[in-house]
Amino acid sequence: MSKIFVDACFGKETPYTPVWMMRQAGRYLPEYMEVRAQAGDFLSLCHDPKKACEVTLQPVDIVGVDAAILFSDILVVPDEMGMDLEFIKGEGPKFNDPIKTEADLNRLLGGEEAASRLTYVYDTIKLIKEQLADDKALIGFTGAPWTLATYMIEGEGTKTYNICKKMMYSNPELLHKILVKVTEVVKLYMEKQIEAGIDVVQIFDSWAAAIEPSKYDEFSWKYMVEIADYLKAKYPHIPIIMFPKGIPAFLDKVYGNFEVFGVDWSTPMALAKEKLGDKYVLQGNMEPCRLYSQEATTECVEALQDIMGGKRHIFNLGHGILPDVPVANAKHFIAECHRVSKK
Ligand code: CP3
Repeated sequence: MSKIFVDACFGKETPYTPVWMMRQAGRYLPEYMEVRAQAGDFLSLCHDPKKACEVTLQPVDIVGVDAAILFSDILVVPDEMGMDLEFIKGEGPKFNDPIKTEADLNRLLGGEEAASRLTYVYDTIKLIKEQLADDKALIGFTGAPWTLATYMIEGEGTKTYNICKKMMYSNPELLHKILVKVTEVVKLYMEKQIEAGIDVVQIFDSWAAAIEPSKYDEFSWKYMVEIADYLKAKYPHIPIIMFPKGIPAFLDKVYGNFEVFGVDWSTPMALAKEKLGDKYVLQGNMEPCRLYSQEATTECVEALQDIMGGKRHIFNLGHGILPDVPVANAKHFIAECHRVSKK
């Protein structure tokens, strides 16, 4: 059966414009909180294929999105490279022993050794594919090497990125060695996700905006393109979505072999269409906080429909849904995207 979401990624005409939401499997759903409580904590949930499968399917059943996204986290990759990830309540992710030197990097597992440890992710994908309706797509994902490296070097989330930027300007060779090693793992990790059954790949460069525009290609984009090239050569039928958050100044320079460009909420959709609409299908980009108001949501969905005209477009938020959004408003967003775009 053809999947409307996959068709839309390849720019084909579809009966309506498909929609999903970044972070759609998560804390705004009481059903998610219930399963997470049973699992104990967030990482245990990621490690449990049955429960991870269950929360992956929740937004499809409850809010009516056109694609499921694998429930996991971008940081399981550095964890399995040997970095010992912890999620601290109220604070977020933490690596207790961040990379400071080349010796620290050399201690980490690379390539196949690291990628083959993520079996719980591949098992989750296989379970989801048994249960997901044939007309819905399953999105697999990875963090971009740069975004992963920020956590591996800083040890946690950061507002200033001063430790990794110090490395960028004073020891760029080491930063590149880290990015090369992560890229090698990610290529194999995504290949194994595809072999397990995902229909679409999304690469999240959540912290793209931390890099000055003239350095963005060197330290992030070229590694994302390398991953896309590797996957495209082997799996041309699997569409790739690139999501670099917050880089309107880089739009003129975007290049690469992928299908969909994820537009974040700080980039005007009309600008993205003008610069990239001929080359790539565009995904996005409602400001996630509009979900607090059904009126503000409808206004934005109609404006996006006016700009994109139901062509070469996938509706989404311009970043992740927040935990205190009412479920009814998330359902309203999905229904409005379908209503305005129905042919
Ligand atoms: O629904 C989905 O989108 C699938 C699951 C998913 C999660 N994380 C689950 C999660 C995905 C795709 C991610 C990606 C991710 N993780 C990114 C890139 C996307 C983005 O939002 O920019 C990043 C930067 C991370 C790292 C991360 N994971 C942080 C900084 C945090 C803590 C902050 C927070 O939102 O709580 C997480 C935890 C996390 N990942 C949660 C979920 C559902 C919350 C954990 C919980 O249940 O308490």
